[in-house]
Amino acid sequence: MKFSLSFLVCFSSAHEDNVDYSKQGLQSPPNVHHYSYKELKDATQGFRPLNKIGEGGFGSVYKGRLQDGTLVAVKVLSAESNQGEREFMAEIAAMSNVRHENLATLLGGCVDGSNRILVYEYMENNSVAHMLLGGEHNRVMLNWDVRRKICLGVARGLAYLHEVLRPHIVHRDVKARNILLDADFTPKVSDFGLSKLFSDDVTHVTTRVAGTLGYLAPEYAISGRLTRKSDVYSFGVLLMEIVSGRPVVDFNLEHGEHNLADKAWGMYQANELLQLIDPSLKGEFPEEEAIRFLKVGLLCVQDDPKLRPHMSKAYKMMCNEIDVKNFEISPPGLLMDLDNVKVGGKNTSNTSSGTSKGSTATSSSSWGSHSATLIE
Ligand SMILES: Nc1ncnc2c1ncn2[C@@H]1O[C@H](COP(=O)(O)OP(=O)(O)OP(=O)(O)O)[C@@H](O)[C@H]1O
Ligand SMILES: [Mg+2]
Repeated sequence: MKFSLSFLVCFSSAHEDNVDYSKQGLQSPPNVHHYSYKELKDATQGFRPLNKIGEGGFGSVYKGRLQDGTLVAVKVLSAESNQGEREFMAEIAAMSNVRHENLATLLGGCVDGSNRILVYEYMENNSVAHMLLGGEHNRVMLNWDVRRKICLGVARGLAYLHEVLRPHIVHRDVKARNILLDADFTPKVSDFGLSKLFSDDVTHVTTRVAGTLGYLAPEYAISGRLTRKSDVYSFGVLLMEIVSGRPVVDFNLEHGEHNLADKAWGMYQANELLQLIDPSLKGEFPEEEAIRFLKVGLLCVQDDPKLRPHMSKAYKMMCNEIDVKNFEISPPGLLMDLDNVKVGGKNTSNTSSGTSKGSTATSSSSWGSHSATLIE
């Protein structure tokens, strides 16, 4: 099986009211660069372990410096691509043509034998996950203004992918690790369209899903129905993560196990959202705005995908151009039985179906079989 075109999802319907916002960061399209293996080997000092800056489900990432001095992130893909050289480069060219201030810039790629390598602009401040969850030293740099900038920037980047680009793109893997930060903490959504480059390698799909649980919209994880609203769900979780400074799924002795969306919903109902805001901010944040962001997060993770706002609307709510008070917040969709998310036609555990709290969704097709139904 192959990852089908469904990884870059096409919609034909005309869309709505976002255009001004998400187009603000538009840049002119580039030409894709074809790097030689030697060039990248030199840039990374022979893919030296010391130069390695991360490892994800797709492979290892190295920091490199090209001969002209440009700093780059070199992603060496581990899962074998079944695409030929020309097809691979064409795919990269398509991804490089997607340019927006809040989307990571893919500079080009390299094919050498079975090696497939992607070259991205290097982001000095790593990822939101690194800054937020990588210790107090990092986290203090994320004052409220920076957090606001990150949340709004991600919303704009996603609104661009969802509502401005033709055909539209559903990211499918929005999470703190995929939001990179440049020297000014401008957020760059990364890894959109990446899955399209691979054959159906269950291991790498499993790795990625494992790192992503908690961000997955339940209806998508269970039944494979993929829409832009699946991304909106993930964005809602991310938003709450940035404002609260808490990981999506966590266990600690004091608070027990928590799922952030569930936790936020409970605190909302108890009128205690203020207490969810990151204590590292030491009270230095505008209360009304921070609570508004949490409420937008809750609207984005509602169980019924139809009730979740489109990204442009979420953006306007965050900016208070649309009053969030006009919307009733219904309970979040929660995957209660994470082991049962289906991957590559197989369950991640031995049981047969996943369950979602607050929804009647039942398992009908596999999430990872790349036959996700597009319903929007
Ligand atoms: N352009 C970049 N600039 C700087 N660091 C980067 C860049 N791209 C990736 N990284 C670093 O490398 C790490 C691994 O990235 P990668 O995208 O391979 O995996 P991931 O995002 O953690 O998970 P996933 O495979 O699900 O996307 C990131 O978490 C980040 O720390
Ligand atoms: Mg990534």
